[in-house]
Amino acid sequence: CGIVGYIGTKDSKEILLRGLEKLEYRGYDSAGIAVVNDEGLHLFKEKGRIADLRAIVDESVVAPTGIGHTRWATHGVPSKENAHPHQSTSGRFTLVHNGVIENYSILKREYLQDVTFVSETDTEVIVQLVDKFSQEGLATEEAFSKTVALLKGSYALALLDNEDKETIYVAKNKSPLLVGLGDDFNVVASDAMAMLQVTDQYVELMDKELVIVTKEAVTIKKLNGEVVERAPYTAELDASDIEKGTYPHYMLKEIDEQPLVMRKIIQQYQNENNELHIDESISQAMTEADRIYIVACGTSYHAGLVGKQFIEKWAKVPVEVHVASEFSYNMPLLSEKPLFVFISQSGETADSRAVLVQVKELGYKALTITNVPGSTLSREADYTLLLHAGPEIAVASTKAYTAQIAVLSILAAVTAKTRGVELSFDLVQELAIVGSAMEALCDDKETMEAIAREYLSTTRNAFFIGRAVDFYVGLEGALKLKEISYIQAEGFAGGELKHGTIALIENNTPVIALATQEHVNLGIRGNVKEVAARGANPCIISMKGLETEEDRYVLPPVHEDLSPLVAVIPLQLISYYAALHRDCDVDKPRNLAKSVTVE
Ligand code: G6P
Repeated sequence: CGIVGYIGTKDSKEILLRGLEKLEYRGYDSAGIAVVNDEGLHLFKEKGRIADLRAIVDESVVAPTGIGHTRWATHGVPSKENAHPHQSTSGRFTLVHNGVIENYSILKREYLQDVTFVSETDTEVIVQLVDKFSQEGLATEEAFSKTVALLKGSYALALLDNEDKETIYVAKNKSPLLVGLGDDFNVVASDAMAMLQVTDQYVELMDKELVIVTKEAVTIKKLNGEVVERAPYTAELDASDIEKGTYPHYMLKEIDEQPLVMRKIIQQYQNENNELHIDESISQAMTEADRIYIVACGTSYHAGLVGKQFIEKWAKVPVEVHVASEFSYNMPLLSEKPLFVFISQSGETADSRAVLVQVKELGYKALTITNVPGSTLSREADYTLLLHAGPEIAVASTKAYTAQIAVLSILAAVTAKTRGVELSFDLVQELAIVGSAMEALCDDKETMEAIAREYLSTTRNAFFIGRAVDFYVGLEGALKLKEISYIQAEGFAGGELKHGTIALIENNTPVIALATQEHVNLGIRGNVKEVAARGANPCIISMKGLETEEDRYVLPPVHEDLSPLVAVIPLQLISYYAALHRDCDVDKPRNLAKSVTVE
């Protein structure tokens, strides 16, 4: 979920709505704003997108103070009732919340037996508690502070008191939240992008802090009341980076940006002698570790699987890759000197953050590879490597995935060097070749569209197979396709399909097979024959040099180890076109959010 707030001299409605539009990547199943003026509070909520909310907002209401929310449902179905802001029964307090309150039913039982709840959310408990404590005689700040102290779980909160249009009360724990500063106004936002329209000056908030925001001042306090001073930073985001320009979808724009991102990464990680370079403390930590534990979710997890290959093959350090949500209760037996590497485009994913907190508590060092400087995972880890991919807006990750792989390759190469292992090739040169190959692929959209039409326009399901690293790319290809086209897709190790899943192959089932690795080329082609013999419609994508006549697409040649960087591009593009052909909402697929800030 995403939250925004504005307090100042202008009308807050449009600023809040525009802010929410920028936060839609965090969820978009319902949205709302609450604004206060001299007449009192005006609340607008709607199921659906920000556009649906816009349609019901009363234009004639003008109010200088307001809060807003875009939701990704956790407790309670997407509906108008469950949409935020939530209001206390008396109507006096209104609140938006991002996160999950773990003890909400206990609090409900203990304090709010007499209250009739109108939503199924955990959030409503918070606002009802504030009201209760206020009715018991506490001033709003005290009532809010007392409530916050009772909460267990994750939250970013903004509270309005309709008897005081001069203040927004804010608090956070685990969920990200920033305060933005202006000349005669201040704002609140889940991320800087949302409020870049009005300011680039932001103050980070830390867990368990409470903030009193007026149009003139921002006062940060610890829960014990102690005031904290913190200097603002300038958000270095270019507003044009977050516009679609002439592209019909962010996803297509971001796919096309990949060659540029490769160049940017090479540039950013080179020193004055044009040698690959990362902060020495990082290569040192990598070298001292006896085992690397990569932790991530979704697409970032898939990039981690590819990264493992580089680190083990080039730097000779053992690597394990783990899905973050499983790690905490399914923790592997750790080696003596582990180093944790978190991969997260957003740097905000709650599942990954929970593991980071856990391993920091155990005293281990952590490196975060992220696209967002200053994100929670970056701040809380010992070291950070940035992806330099520019904001990724489409929910389905594309350029962040290839950027993660490229940065992991650089990390592996520099670690190899620090450990005294010589690579037999020049990674800078090979990555530059990858950049050009990506460009050629992005220029070949007509073929990708034709492949999507041929194989995916009516199918119910699809399989992606590959051996060795192609298997991992296939997992990502399948994830892309499911995410945006809703075709049931599975990625499989070529050799494993016959041990059960082959039962699903029917006449014309599309099987997209990757053949980029010489040592398994014969093997994967054997697997293609097996599925073809059972009626499948195979689509072989091979690397130049390994191709045969039956291949549907041949990738421009790149260093074999780096093939995931190019092999994934056709998979991204055919998913994109498959989704278009099926009339799906490419940038905002159903049920998903780009940044999942709940565990
Ligand atoms: C969400 C997104 C995925 C993404 C995953 C991890 O589930 O829908 O596309 O891969 O989170 O996100 P992160 O920001 O940590 O890379």
